[in-house]
Amino acid sequence: MISFHVNGTHHQVDDSRGREVLLDYLQGDLNLTGTKLCCGIGVCRACTVAVAKGGSPAEAPTIACSTPLHLLDGTRIRTVEGVAEGETLTPVQDAFLRHFSFQCGYCAPGFVMAATMFLDSLSRNPVPVADLDSAIEDAIGAHICRCSGYVRYYQALREVAMDVISDPEGDKA
Ligand code: FES
Ligand code: FES
Repeated sequence: MISFHVNGTHHQVDDSRGREVLLDYLQGDLNLTGTKLCCGIGVCRACTVAVAKGGSPAEAPTIACSTPLHLLDGTRIRTVEGVAEGETLTPVQDAFLRHFSFQCGYCAPGFVMAATMFLDSLSRNPVPVADLDSAIEDAIGAHICRCSGYVRYYQALREVAMDVISDPEGDKA
């Protein structure tokens, strides 16, 4: 059996389904439709989820459209449904809304996941302000937004990242 957690809940999948991709499993089996299929070939990153391995709290961006289930055995997966606490948005979700970062919203879950992982990492390992722009570029620069919300995504994330740098122990992700 292939075994993993999704947003804190344990799931098992028969080995015979190991070649199925994570995105189909999330949407079809778990009815978690927040993770979006866009290009489907591992380019746009709309389908990004967070995956942690072993006992490490560190999560890595993972493209759900192109990641087969057999590679996820033993992992902890977080999707966009697992970011907010109930009805309470995280600061970066709130910032994306306030800055009108997205239009159609299809890319938004991927940006939320990448930004969330970036801010988590930043709170553990703050970077100097002088390096923040390049760090943000590394975190979200490869995400494609067909509605061209790049500047507003960037501005929103920078705003929250500055808060994290000034208060790394706070909960700003
Ligand atoms: S839909 Fe997965 S990378 Fe584009
Ligand atoms: S808001 Fe439409 S693709 Fe980004």
